[in-house]
Parts: sequence; C-alpha cells; structure tokens
Amino acid sequence: MKIEEYLTSLPQSILSGQDVQLPDNAFREIFRFAELGKDDIFYHLGCGNGKGILIALEEFGVKNAVGIDNDGKKIILAKDLLKEKNLPNYTFQCNDIRQVDFCDATVILFWFADQKIIDEMMDRFSRLKSGCKIITIWGPLPGCLPDKVEFPYILNIIPFKKANDIKEQLLAIFCTDCVDFVTAWEFAERYTKAIGSPEAGNDRFLTILQSLVIWINAKNLGVACGDEIPQPIRTYISILKTFFNIDVEYLLNK
Ligand SMILES: C[S@@+](CC[C@H](N)C(=O)[O-])C[C@H]1O[C@@H](n2cnc3c(N)ncnc32)[C@H](O)[C@@H]1O
Repeated sequence: MKIEEYLTSLPQSILSGQDVQLPDNAFREIFRFAELGKDDIFYHLGCGNGKGILIALEEFGVKNAVGIDNDGKKIILAKDLLKEKNLPNYTFQCNDIRQVDFCDATVILFWFADQKIIDEMMDRFSRLKSGCKIITIWGPLPGCLPDKVEFPYILNIIPFKKANDIKEQLLAIFCTDCVDFVTAWEFAERYTKAIGSPEAGNDRFLTILQSLVIWINAKNLGVACGDEIPQPIRTYISILKTFFNIDVEYLLNK
C-alpha cells in the first residue's frame, strides 16, 4: 500500500496530533534554544497539560506565561498542576488559538501541523512586535528562512525573513549544501529522540520512515547529493515494502 494509505489506517488521534505531549526534557531543550528568560512573556499555543508553562515559570523564571488550549479537560489538568506551586503571573485560557490575543508575546511555542491553522496564524504572527520569537518543531513557518535551527527546533524572529523557494528553506533547516543519506538519517533520528518517549519500541521504524521522507523530498527538489539512489535508501525502501507492505518508491520524481 502507498504510504498515504498506511498513514490513513492509523488512529485519528495519532494523525491529528491532538494528544501529543512533549516530554519535559524537550521543553528544557526548546527553552534553552530560545534563550527564554526573566524578561519574557511566553505563550504556549496548544499547551496540553500545562507542563511547558510550569517549566517556563519554575526553571526559566519568565515574567509571564500564558497557556492556551481548546480542550477543556487539558486546561483543568493544567490549572491543577500549577495550583499547588504558588507561582505568580500565569494564565490558562480554554480557547481556539485563532481567537486569542497574544500581541504582548516575546516568545511563542507553536507546534502545529494542520495547514489551515498554520495559514491563519501566519498573518497574525507577522503583525507581532519586532524581536518576538516563534518556535516551531520539525517544519519551518511557511515561506520563511529560520533565524536559528537546532533540529528539530526552529526559531523565526519577527520580522520574518522570506525564503526564495522551498529548496532554500530546506537547505537552511538542514544547514547543508545537499542532503545525503547520513544527513537524512541523522535529522530523522534527532526528531524521533526529541519528541519520542525514551522506552518507545518503534523508534527505529519511525526514523526509517522520516529519513526516507527527508531524502526523497531532497531528491525531488534536486538537492540530494548526486543522482544515484544511495544503497541504504534502496535497502530501507525494500524493507518497508517486503516486511511492512508500505510503498514509498512511487514518491520519487513525483
Ligand atoms: C501540539 S498541538 C498539535 C495538534 C494540532 N491539531 C496539529 O495541527 O498538529 C496539540 C495540542 O493543541 C491543542 N489544540 C489543537 N487544536 C487547537 C486549537 N485550534 N486551538 C487551541 N488548542 C488546540 C490540543 O488540544 C493539544 O493539547
């Protein structure tokens, strides 16, 4: 089956990313990466159980923290988590992120894959005050060149720098002139390690899928290193087909 069919066979909650929650250490890495500190007004869009807000306040001493989520149950969990801690200067709002005012933000964590939401937010992000930092994970903001990358964490600072094309954007994310198998594997693995749970048994499977997607995209954009398909890519394509009945080969030169 084509990889799209495989993906649609997964549970809806996995596809929507609705219940994903970053591990605590990922928050710490992200906040160090963004140099979050005591002068910051931090917004976590899609804050889930509030762990990011707690770590921003308790360990990074932000001036103010705002968590927004449209799932009432998660907002209750978040409020409960913070209640005992007696920390000042935070709020949680149960709302759609598209309806919320965040114009005082200095740092925003925005991990969304839904293209409709991303497109609607882009216009609002671009009107934020100069110097405001927006952190995304895995993918950059559409059409933008990142200001800083520690893959899978990506930072864009207002005003946005426009990328000439997707090729330029991809090479800026991977900090390289071309993407070979080793680069694709290394970046896929960084992503799996950053967001996965330490005991996940399927990490290798996820890394194989991600590295094939990275390399095939690079190849189709003309930024893979050379015209040949590297042997490890051939091998993984074949393993996926033979043992998992997942076809990715048709994606080449689409
Ligand atoms: C990491 S975000 C990513 C999920 C998102 N659907 C996507 O586009 O990938 C997950 C968190 O965002 C929350 N969420 C999803 N859509 C939202 C929205 N429109 N407004 C506020 N929170 C939202 C979920 O309840 C969850 O806690």
